[in-house]
Amino acid sequence: LFSEVINVELSSRSYPIVVGDGLLGSIGGDPRLPVESHCVVVSDSNVATIYLERVVAELRWRNRVDSVTLPAGETTKSIEQLSSLWEQLARFGADRGTVVVALGGGVIGDLAGFAAATYLRGLQYIQIPTSLLAQVDSSVGGKVGINLPGGKNLAGAFWQPSLVLIDTAVLQTLDAANFRSGLAEVVKYGVILDPGLFEFLEQNIAAINKRDIEVLARVIVQCCRLKAGVVSQDERETTGRRAILNYGHTFGHAIENVFGYGEYLHGEAIAIGMQAAARIAWGLGLVDEQFVCRQTGLLESFGLPLSVRPGRGTEIVSAMYRDKKICGGKLKLVLPTSIGRVQLCDAPHDRVLAQAIEYSQ
Ligand SMILES: NC(=O)c1ccc[n+]([C@@H]2O[C@H](COP(=O)([O-])OP(=O)(O)OC[C@H]3O[C@@H](n4cnc5c(N)ncnc54)[C@H](O)[C@@H]3O)[C@@H](O)[C@H]2O)c1
Ligand SMILES: [Zn+2]
Repeated sequence: LFSEVINVELSSRSYPIVVGDGLLGSIGGDPRLPVESHCVVVSDSNVATIYLERVVAELRWRNRVDSVTLPAGETTKSIEQLSSLWEQLARFGADRGTVVVALGGGVIGDLAGFAAATYLRGLQYIQIPTSLLAQVDSSVGGKVGINLPGGKNLAGAFWQPSLVLIDTAVLQTLDAANFRSGLAEVVKYGVILDPGLFEFLEQNIAAINKRDIEVLARVIVQCCRLKAGVVSQDERETTGRRAILNYGHTFGHAIENVFGYGEYLHGEAIAIGMQAAARIAWGLGLVDEQFVCRQTGLLESFGLPLSVRPGRGTEIVSAMYRDKKICGGKLKLVLPTSIGRVQLCDAPHDRVLAQAIEYSQ
């Protein structure tokens, strides 16, 4: 059975990410599992139907296990669901020795992680990410939180998990749109940090689209390594290093905002955002045409969208200025300079931004 361990180095908050095929079937015996005697598994309705019983059975081997199943979807990252989760923890008699287990996509990871960060001023938690996006991105790095009526991820914390368990086998049950969406983040890692990964993706398009387990495992391991590296250099996004992970995201968040969550999945909006950033970088002479062609080609072969339909560019640009990463009204963009390298730049004129978002081939 394939299995690999990546360490997230954060001195006293360091933790391992274990990637393996079929891992869920043996987690009960994993020596890295916290020894605490009480676990609360938090999941959503889709994931729970397929995997909850298996996970609970594994953990029950040595712990008292309670579980909570929440509705699937982004709206679950709300104050209401957080508060009901806190109440459940109280009802289960959670104490400082309780371990929260987040079993699901990024929504469950962010919400359960935030509940863990806040209940009794902080419980241990472990991440068992089940969507591709959660496996390559949201489960690593300790950003947890919920949405507020005023915007996405507005309330949150940095709270590192004590273990991340990634079972690549669970990706087989993920729907096509969410699989595609996760691939956008994978392409992002190639562009911002790793020409070798980018090339590997180009050479394995068919295998990836078919969800070949070995190829996916290699991709996921590499993405986790890259994210772990960035996070250990800049855990709380203070030096600017962690900001490179936002490639395509200032555009993407604005697109999600303007179209309403649901029209585009997160990764789809990010794909459009990376394309806009690439076009701007090209216009500024930071990258050549070949760069743009390679990024376009890769995103396209994963079935990701490349631009929004014309007419919404200006609105999206206004939404970009409302981004929470904006500091003192100045819009900064992560722009590529080559495959594997990006830099933080001042945004060009609004008209240029709008054109880059609407641009069609
Ligand atoms: N904390 C971070 O650093 C970070 C980073 C990126 C994104 N996020 C957050 O992550 C969230 C998006 O995460 P997501 O894309 O995983 O969404 P999600 O959690 O809603 O999962 C997507 C859908 O796939 C289903 N699903 C998940 N795993 C499955 C499986 N193995 N089989 C079948 N169905 C499965 C879920 O039930 C859901 O319907 C957003 O809220 C975003 O803000 C957080
Ligand atoms: Zn993202």
